[in-house]
Amino acid sequence: MYIYIAKSNIVKQLYHLILCIAVLTSCTTHNTSIQSSGTIGNHALVSSAHPLASAIGLEIMKNGGNAIDAAIATHFALAVVYPQAGNIGGGGFAVIRMNYGTINSLDFREKAPALAHREMYLNAKGQLNDMQSTHGLMASGVPGAVDGMFALHQKYGTLPMAELIEPSIEMAQRGYALTPLAAELLNTKQEEFQTYNRWSTPYHSDQDWQAGDTITQPDLALTLEHIQTNGRNGFYEGIVADQIVAEMQSKNGLISHADLKNYQSVWRKPITGNYRGHQIISMAPPSSGGVALIQLLQGTEGYPIADWGHNSTKTIHLMAELERRVYADRATYLGDPDFINLPVDQLLDPRYNEQRFSDISFDKATPSALVSAGEIPPSESPETTHLSIADADGNAVAITTTLNSSFGNKVMVKGAGFFLNNEMDDFSSKPGSPNQFGLIGGEANAIAPHKRMLSSMTPTIVTYKDQLKMIVGTPGGSTIITSVYQTLLNVIDHGMGMQEAVNVKRVHHQWYPDEIRVESDALTENVQTDLAQLGHQLRMTDKIGRMDCILVLPDGRLEGGADPRGDNTALGY
Ligand code: GLY
Repeated sequence: MYIYIAKSNIVKQLYHLILCIAVLTSCTTHNTSIQSSGTIGNHALVSSAHPLASAIGLEIMKNGGNAIDAAIATHFALAVVYPQAGNIGGGGFAVIRMNYGTINSLDFREKAPALAHREMYLNAKGQLNDMQSTHGLMASGVPGAVDGMFALHQKYGTLPMAELIEPSIEMAQRGYALTPLAAELLNTKQEEFQTYNRWSTPYHSDQDWQAGDTITQPDLALTLEHIQTNGRNGFYEGIVADQIVAEMQSKNGLISHADLKNYQSVWRKPITGNYRGHQIISMAPPSSGGVALIQLLQGTEGYPIADWGHNSTKTIHLMAELERRVYADRATYLGDPDFINLPVDQLLDPRYNEQRFSDISFDKATPSALVSAGEIPPSESPETTHLSIADADGNAVAITTTLNSSFGNKVMVKGAGFFLNNEMDDFSSKPGSPNQFGLIGGEANAIAPHKRMLSSMTPTIVTYKDQLKMIVGTPGGSTIITSVYQTLLNVIDHGMGMQEAVNVKRVHHQWYPDEIRVESDALTENVQTDLAQLGHQLRMTDKIGRMDCILVLPDGRLEGGADPRGDNTALGY
């Protein structure tokens, strides 16, 4: 359907036509009823946050690329058309399962610059200045995304990297049309863009952006060309590195040439566990996602939640009680494994979790003030986006990638055309003080030079009887873990298809604040009353997560689950 290497005039015109079709498609999606069953791929499927990015990933697979090639191309495309989270100025995690059964995961999380220190966001009185960890240049960690894409390609890619980046260069040069949601979001960010930038970025406008307006990004196209020509050094050294450092030096940024040059992503052993006969493969620290997800599933397995029902009082109560305990453990024990010993084996030990959850009462909620981290026995030896891709050979990849907040620190690197992350806010800047997601952290996640900040990103692959079954993930800060958890339960326990499992409303508890966040219409009035009587505080919220998922159906076809909460789009062939 989509042509990505537009060389002739005819093809260029076709390309513009395609952009218009994509916008109309996304308008339609949001103006009509929500699909209850997902896009079907007979061979391969991509689900990502933007229709154009999904189209590029699909085209790569149609042209002989595998799931990893498609993921790399989709990731670069999201940096162009989904700047609020798609990125080259941020970082993330990839979980991979190749069709021969090999599993692996890549940590391309940002790192603290060498000049970072644990009290960098505290004033002389020890008070936290949380604007500095979320807005402007001090908020950025050293980006990992470009190094990550090259590391993935080196190990698993099959098509030339230049071919995977080319469609994004073309889109940055020619422009892409805003969807209604994208225009609406941009209009809310104009003041911050003005405050934090020293130039008029392509996203500035004196008038309101409208759906269908075209954004061209010549500077970003040049940056992508540098990467295409010079590999990872095209970002971490040379002109792009100079532009990043110049941006840092224009105010109070800390990232240096040495920080950029020395950045390296890390292959890590995935976190694995079992749930009702399924194998769960997820991300290891410095993401808390895999550990927390397995703890939650271990706590759920002993209960017949399918009989209790989806979003029934008893099911929600159990989930909230498990979540407050798991997030207390997260806050206390998890951080960067390259800096501290993490009790991962203990946290994943079923005996630990049986004990950990043994004080859950079904008669009343446990106030979070009475919940602290579990007793770990001594060790014997600690605004994001997601894409899911399955190829025709059964290879699978789940990537969650982020700038942290929507548009990161709001600063677009002058001349280079991409937004920088504000990932430093994911560190615990002051013990006991919540970050922007309300998450509390401790010593394990204190700031230190070169350290990676704790994440909640939970790219996850599920197998059943050694066959690929699901690829799951979402943005949403602290709600990522519980969104992935609920989506797995929706399919495995509640018998939903992939799209339905993504569509249904979600809830979330994270220890502090001591409340269950509830999407509107998630719970009936009776369930809300019953939960309140048990002692739960409920807080209604707008949208939780924007999932992109794939389910392998019994006949081997693939069902996409693209979240109607965003512009998420699943495309297959
Ligand atoms: N920046 C959100 C996360 O990594 O959890």
